[in-house]
Parts: sequence; structure tokens; C-alpha cells
Amino acid sequence: MDISTQTPLNGAHVVVFGGSSGIGLATAAAAKAKGAIVTLIGRTPAKLEAAARTIGGAQTAIADIAERESVEAVFNGMTRVDHLVITAGGLHVGKLADSDPDQLLVEIQQRIAGAVYAIKAALPSMPPTGSIVLMGGQFSDRPPANGASITAAAVRGIEALARSLALELKPIRVNVIAPGLIDTSLFDVFGPEGRAAIFAQAAEQLPVGRAGRADEVGEAITFLLSNGYMNAEVLHIDGGGRFV
Ligand SMILES: NC(=O)c1ccc[n+]([C@@H]2O[C@H](COP(=O)([O-])OP(=O)(O)OC[C@H]3O[C@@H](n4cnc5c(N)ncnc54)[C@H](OP(=O)(O)O)[C@@H]3O)[C@@H](O)[C@H]2O)c1
Repeated sequence: MDISTQTPLNGAHVVVFGGSSGIGLATAAAAKAKGAIVTLIGRTPAKLEAAARTIGGAQTAIADIAERESVEAVFNGMTRVDHLVITAGGLHVGKLADSDPDQLLVEIQQRIAGAVYAIKAALPSMPPTGSIVLMGGQFSDRPPANGASITAAAVRGIEALARSLALELKPIRVNVIAPGLIDTSLFDVFGPEGRAAIFAQAAEQLPVGRAGRADEVGEAITFLLSNGYMNAEVLHIDGGGRFV
């Protein structure tokens, strides 16, 4: 009797929205190392080409996750999608008082509507052994004191979407990865000094004494893809950041 709950990634097709850098690229690298065939998706052709080279070759496609038609076009002619990973997105922080309230619509469009577009378009090509990992975040449980209410609302919505879809799409599994502070190009918008200050503060505050690395999150995502009993789960990878 086979009692394994593992879904081997060897030979599986893993499609990563946001695969041209950071957590998405690290996920693609980890999946490829386990034998998967990967497709990287993002908005910038040059970044996609460089990313594919970094991991020793990958299929690529250009799409903006917030635009339904461009997302649907990615799946035209794609006959099999074993696993769908969605890490595409940016960073919005700041107090509501200082933010455009319509930023909430931008976050929902990108994080929630984008995920819905991609999942619906991928479904006809997904086998029963398939799985989906959506991007959550620490802000859902532990918003920062300096404000991220708009993003916090959107990432909490992703958790509800995943739990509900895990029931609707069964036996396809649906999970969420919820990273804390991870050292990626997401923080380049703060400039070198602002970025250094963020990571120095994290080293001081976090129980593990440092920010996380993209490869650590990529490994956690491949765990969610390959463990056949992980379902409707929000996997936190934050160095204990939710509790400080
Ligand atoms: N790093 C962290 O500390 C952290 C923590 C919690 C959650 N997150 C979330 O994790 C996700 C990935 O972040 P990261 O740290 O890996 O950042 P990153 O290195 O900047 O990677 C973001 C990726 O998403 C793509 N992307 C961005 N907007 C897109 C769009 N509208 N359509 C398609 N692709 C898009 C980017 O490529 P193009 O720009 O070329 O399209 C890039 O490949 C983000 O949603 C972020 O909010 C990050």
C-alpha cells in the first residue's frame, strides 16, 4: 500500500506569476531543482529572460496579473498546469490618512482579482493532483504600527479566498504562503539607505536576528506544492515576526 502523501514535483509543470524575481524566482529555482518544468510570468521581458537564464532555462510569458485578458492569454494552449503559484505584486505601506483610498481597489485588483483570473484560466488544465499557492503576508495577522491597513485587508482576503476554493476545487489543494520581511527587490523603492534601515531594524527586532531570504520562502512554497495533505492552510514564514 502506498501511504505517501507526497506529490512529486519531478516532471510537474509549475507556473509562477511573479517568477521573474524575488520569492517567485526562488520558488521556480527550488521547483526546478526538484525536477519540475517551470514557466515564469511577469510584465518585463528583460527581467523574465534574465530570470530564466539564472535558473538554467525556463519557459516565460508576459502578463499583468491585474489585467484579465493578458492573464487568460497565458493559458491559451497550455495543456497541463500541475501547480500554480502566484507571487506577483508590489508593496503599499503607509497610513490610510496619507494614502489614496482607491489604493484599496488597486490592491484588490492585483492580489485578489488577479488570483481569481489566473485560477479560473488555469483550472481546465489542472489535474486532480494539482495545487495552488497564493501570496498572503504577515500584515494579515500583525500589521505594522506605521500603517498598512489597505494591504492588510487585501492579504486577509486572499486567505478567505484560498480556504473557500480548497472546498470548491477539491481535490485540487489551495494554500497561502504568508511571509514576514524577506530581502528582495521589493524594498528597492526605499533607496539604498531606506532599505538598509528597514533591514537593520528587522535584525534588531526579529527573534531570528535577520530578515528572511527568498530561497527560504521558495522552499516553503515547494513544500506546500508537494505535500499532498497540506490544504486550506496559511503557512507563516516570518522568523517569529508576528509576535514582536
Ligand atoms: N518581500 C517581502 O518581504 C514580502 C513579504 C510578504 C509578502 N510579499 C509579497 O510577495 C510578492 C512578491 O514579492 P517579492 O518580495 O518577491 O518582490 P519582487 O522581487 O519585487 O518580485 C515581484 C515579482 O512580481 C512581478 N509583478 C509585479 N507586479 C506584477 C503584475 N501586476 N503582474 C505580473 N507580475 C507582476 C514582478 O515582475 P514585473 O515587475 O516585471 O512584472 C516580479 O517578478 C508581492 O506580492 C509582495 O507583496 C513580499
